[in-house]
Amino acid sequence: MPGFSIYVTRAIPESGLALLESAPDVERVEVSPHDRPLERSELERALAERDGAIVLLTDTIDDALLARAPGLRAIACYSVGTDNVDLAAAKRRGVAVTNTPDVLTDATADMTWALLLATARRVAEGDALVRAGKFPGWSPLFFLGADVSGSVLGLLGAGRIASAVLARARGFGMRVIYCSRASKPALDGAGARFVSMDALLRESDFLSIHVPLTKDTRHAIDERALSLMKPTAILVNTSRGPIVDEAALVRALSQGRIAGAGLDVFEDEPRLAPGLAELGSVVLAPHVGSATRATRSRMAVLAAEGCLFSLRGTKPRNWVEGSAWPARRMG
Ligand code: DGY
Repeated sequence: MPGFSIYVTRAIPESGLALLESAPDVERVEVSPHDRPLERSELERALAERDGAIVLLTDTIDDALLARAPGLRAIACYSVGTDNVDLAAAKRRGVAVTNTPDVLTDATADMTWALLLATARRVAEGDALVRAGKFPGWSPLFFLGADVSGSVLGLLGAGRIASAVLARARGFGMRVIYCSRASKPALDGAGARFVSMDALLRESDFLSIHVPLTKDTRHAIDERALSLMKPTAILVNTSRGPIVDEAALVRALSQGRIAGAGLDVFEDEPRLAPGLAELGSVVLAPHVGSATRATRSRMAVLAAEGCLFSLRGTKPRNWVEGSAWPARRMG
């Protein structure tokens, strides 16, 4: 039987490629030559004759695409989020899907805190002001921000990243509340209080989003949700942009119905909702929650392992529930 043919839709760190290239049962590893997301037709062509692929969150893997790649048995997402993949279609078509959990938890929690602090203390706005030569000198009422220490942190979601954000909140003496489908012993044990969605919105000084994007979480933060938040509240999103109705957020911020937002993700990346970039009360980052050298390198190894294990018919530790059980190709 010939070895596996694997396509990687954009250059990833060498650690992952080396693992694929040195595997005795891999015949061909091809990496996209383009330093950009592939067009739909390019993606279809690239995956048509492959056994496995490492894909990015910008690659839409739906039923129609899988239908054109009948030999595909493994899709390894180079991300923890798998909202770009139709898992039900993957299951029907015998494609195992993997992702990159755990290895990016700390980096993403750190970025959440970077945005929370930067928004509260107006770091980006201050930096721009100083660079523009507009710093008038110290004065008691100049450039006041929000208090972080001792305030209430609300977490929407109770997974690994939410837990890591909570761990960091202890150092700031914050009271932490959270909302998820069910209470989680790990968060309860760490001193967080399980509350309803409305209580989360009403009580949080800082509201940080840590749920995956699904049909149930799309626009979880909409006009109504924003209207329940405190006028002094700050929203932080390092999860997925479409969880927030970005147009509604721009309205809430412009009208002073909430105080600020720290955003690493956007509803229609890389585009921004009209008016968002003009607001001084937001700190905007270019979807870099997991973008540290070591994290991206570990993600590459995990993605490569996931792809190889799936193709060999062994369940990888990062197999995604809802996709096909890994099975060896026959013949
Ligand atoms: C993910 O993993 O889902 C991030 O958004 C990219 O690292």
